Amino acid sequence: MDKLIITGGAQLSGELRISGAKNAALPILAATLLSENPVTIGNIPHLHDITTTMQLLGQMGIQLTIDEKMNIEVHSSTITKYEAPYELVKTMRASILVLGPLLSRFGEAHVSLPGGCAIGSRPVDIHIDSLIKMGADIQVEAGYIHAKVKRLKGCRLVLDKVTVTGTENLLMAAVLAEGTTILENAAKEPEVSDLAHFLNAMGAKITGIDTDILTIEGVDKLDKKEIHYNIIPDRIETGTYLVAAAITRGRVKLKDTRPDTLDAVLEKLKEAGADITSGDDWIELDMHGKRPKAVTLRTAPYPAFPTDMQAQFTAMNIVAEGVGIITETVFENRFMHVQEMQRMGANIQLESNTAICTGSEKITGAPVMATDLRASASLVIAGLVAEGETLVDRIYHIDRGYDHIEEKLSQLGATIRRIPR
Ligand code: UD1
Repeated sequence: MDKLIITGGAQLSGELRISGAKNAALPILAATLLSENPVTIGNIPHLHDITTTMQLLGQMGIQLTIDEKMNIEVHSSTITKYEAPYELVKTMRASILVLGPLLSRFGEAHVSLPGGCAIGSRPVDIHIDSLIKMGADIQVEAGYIHAKVKRLKGCRLVLDKVTVTGTENLLMAAVLAEGTTILENAAKEPEVSDLAHFLNAMGAKITGIDTDILTIEGVDKLDKKEIHYNIIPDRIETGTYLVAAAITRGRVKLKDTRPDTLDAVLEKLKEAGADITSGDDWIELDMHGKRPKAVTLRTAPYPAFPTDMQAQFTAMNIVAEGVGIITETVFENRFMHVQEMQRMGANIQLESNTAICTGSEKITGAPVMATDLRASASLVIAGLVAEGETLVDRIYHIDRGYDHIEEKLSQLGATIRRIPR
């Protein structure tokens, strides 16, 4: 397994281009299943999860072509089976996103249950119960969801919890359903809106985009031709590099991004002492060489502070001035990075879903490993300021969601290298 070695101490400075959003690319690639015509998706990030999604679609018999600029053309009319097998779902939970489109367009889907994962139990009960309300016959047997329907029927669905992939699955299911579906308490994450805009570009009729009530008027087919759709920039990648610059007391300008999707994160960085300027598609952060101040925050669905930025802010708090309290409300077990940070000398007290971080002047490099994507990124960030070398193991998690992380950090002046297995 590849590892990353980081030598702490360099102050980051420079400019970077932000990649397309992983969490928008995955549902949008799944949504290509809904169209009768070839569709091209652009601004696709170079990530392991994208490769997994291509394998997932490929094993269904779908033709995919990818060019050197990472545009992916999908012809879903060549589909031969309606299945997401365990071997792929176990490596990427987001594979569940094919359930809604397969059922909606082909009336049949066999999708392995994702099961538990490092950050909690993460059930898919809301996806399944809502599809049953839309008329699907669903059996869960031997670890698989088997779903069948003649045609889904639109109805009013009030989601028990705000769920991002749940909202996306139901949105995709509803576009070809008979009649109107009203999704209440829907997730408003920018990636959900990106998917909705893409579906509308293919011929769907969705209104209420960016709000928590989505209305979907079912259509018989999505028959718009010559669709080329570009994925929105990755707000979590953006936030991660902003924190990396802040923790090293540096300065960074990030281009091809969307500051309007990062309000809560930028607010907390300002509180930490960062000077932030931005335009339509760029953000600049400057610490003017100062140590960050610890911040207190609480994760919650968009537009509140994202759970996917919690670990990175924990890393910043452990070397910041003062005490910062981090409360995780979205996932029950998302503090796997804390123990590893403690091995680097961090002063963190964990009390159920709260991490009380007291900033230290100094942390030290150590061999560490993480069990999820954002936790791995937070350990790399901690390594940037730790004294000596930090060796981050199991970085396949990072490769799932960060496009060329060591190259991008090197470009900003970090001392980081990959050791191939
Ligand atoms: C998505 C993101 C992930 C992010 C998360 C929260 C993708 C591919 N992944 O994950 O990066 O961390 O949103 O912003 O977009 N829940 C249920 N029943 C369900 C579905 C969800 O109880 O049927 C619960 C979950 O256990 C969790 C909460 O709802 O506690 C939110 O989860 P959800 O928004 O569904 O996360 P994902 O869509 O899996």
